[in-house]
Amino acid sequence: MTSYYSLSLITILFSLLIPNLIATRPVKDPEIIVQAVQRSINASLIRRNLEEGSSCLTGNPIDDCWKCDSKWDKNRQKLADCAVGFGKNATGGKDGKIYVVTDSSDNDVVNPKNGTLRHAVIQDEPLWIIFERDMVIKLKVELIMNSYKTIDGRGANVHITGGGCITIQSITNIIIHGINIHECKPAGNTNVRSSPGHFGHRGISDGDAVNIFGSKHIWVDHVTLSNCDDGLIDAVEGSSLITISNSLFTQQDKVMLLGHNDAYTADKSMQVTIAFNHFGEGLTQRIPRIRHGYVHVVNNDYTKWKMYAMGGSAAPTILSQGNRFLAPDDEKSKEATKYENAPKSEWQKWNWKSEGDEFLNGAFFTSSSRVINSSNAAFFTSSSRSSSSSSASDISAKAVTLVPKLTANAGALKCKKGFAC
Ligand SMILES: *[C@@H]1O[C@H](CO)[C@@H](O)[C@H](O)[C@H]1NC(C)=O
Ligand SMILES: *[C@@H]1O[C@H](CO)[C@@H](O)[C@H](O)[C@H]1NC(C)=O
Ligand SMILES: *[C@@H]1O[C@H](CO)[C@@H](O)[C@H](O)[C@H]1NC(C)=O
Repeated sequence: MTSYYSLSLITILFSLLIPNLIATRPVKDPEIIVQAVQRSINASLIRRNLEEGSSCLTGNPIDDCWKCDSKWDKNRQKLADCAVGFGKNATGGKDGKIYVVTDSSDNDVVNPKNGTLRHAVIQDEPLWIIFERDMVIKLKVELIMNSYKTIDGRGANVHITGGGCITIQSITNIIIHGINIHECKPAGNTNVRSSPGHFGHRGISDGDAVNIFGSKHIWVDHVTLSNCDDGLIDAVEGSSLITISNSLFTQQDKVMLLGHNDAYTADKSMQVTIAFNHFGEGLTQRIPRIRHGYVHVVNNDYTKWKMYAMGGSAAPTILSQGNRFLAPDDEKSKEATKYENAPKSEWQKWNWKSEGDEFLNGAFFTSSSRVINSSNAAFFTSSSRSSSSSSASDISAKAVTLVPKLTANAGALKCKKGFAC
C-alpha cells in the first residue's frame, strides 16, 4: 500500500511540476492530489505516534506491559498480568466487578457505608476498586482487607492517611497500585469489620502504611509512601510471594520490615522481590530489614540513607542486583549493608551477594563469604530453577546504568483517560 501511494504521489507531483513532459497523460483532478497529500500526512502522523509510543517504553517490564496503552482506563485489569518477581501471581480483583469508590468518609467501621473504600475492601467477591475523583481518605482505624482485591488509584489523586493504615491479614491476592499512603498513626481498640460476615475487636495498630501479616500473593506497585509512625511496608508472620515495585519511599525511619522475629522460623520460606523502587530522601534504615527468607533486591535507586540500606538477622538470603547505591555524606554510614544479631564468625556464613550494583559517594556492600550457591540460587533465576524450589523470581537484572530510566516514574502516576500514563 505504502509504496503504491508514494509511487502515485510521485507521479502526481511529477505531472504537476513538468506537465509538458507528460502532456499526453491527462492532468489529475486537484481533489485527488489533496487526498493523496492528506494521506501522506496521515501516514507520517501514524509513524510519529508509533515512535512516541515506543519512546514511552523504558525497559521496565512492568510498565512496558500496560503503561503506554492510551486505553488503560478501558482495560484496567490488564495490569494484573504485568507483575514480575515473587508476587507475580497476585491476581488482585482480576475478573471481578469494578467497584467505584464515591465517598471518602470513614465514619462507621463496623457497618461501612456503601461507596466507601472500607465497604469495598471487606467484600467476599473479587473486586477491582477504582475512585470516582481525587480524594483524601482519612481512616478512623486500620483498613482491613479481604482477599482478591485490587486498589487501583489510576486516574485520580488518592491519598490514604490517618489511623492504620492498610492491613492485609491472613488473606491472599492483593494488588495495591497508584495511590499515596502517608501520615499513618496507631489507632484501634475498637470493633472493626473485616468481611460482610465478621467484625471483631482490634487492638491498637502499629501505624504502618501497609502491614502484611500471614498473607501471600501480594503486589504493591507505583505507590508513594512516606512519614508513618512505624514502618512503610511490613511483611511478617509467614507472609510470602510478595513483589514491591515502582514505588517511591521518602521521609521515614524504619522503611520496610520483612520478618519480625529471629525465632519465627516459618519465615524461612519467605520470598520477596523489591524492584524498580526509588528509595529517596529522608530514609534512615531497613530498606529493607530481613529475617530468614529470600529477598531479591533488583534495579532500585537508593539515595542517601541515614544509617544503612539493607540488612537483617537470622541468616536471610539476599541477592542485590543492578541497584544504584548513593551513600550519604556522613563517613559513618557509607555501608549499604548491616548484619545484625550475630558475630562475624556467624554472619559470614550467610548468603548476601551483590552483583552488578553501582556504588557512589563511597557506598559499599559487605558480602558474606558463603555467597549464593547452586542450590539456593534456584530461588532467583528461572533458568536454574530446580524442581525442589516452589517458584523463582523471574526478573533478570538490567544494567545499573539504566536504573535512572527504570525508576524515573516511581510512585503514584498521574494517569489521564485517553492518554498513556
Ligand atoms: C451499593 O450501591 C450500589 C449502587 O448504588 C448498588 O448496586 C449495590 O447493590 C449496593 N450494595 C449494597 C451491599 O448495598
Ligand atoms: C547452599 O546454602 C544453603 C544455605 O542457604 C545450605 O543449606 C546448602 O547446604 C548449601 N548448598 C550447597 C550445595 O552448598
Ligand atoms: C506462578 O504460577 C505458575 C503457574 O501455576 C507457577 O508455575 C509459578 O511457580 C508461580 N510463581 C510464583 C512466583 O508464585
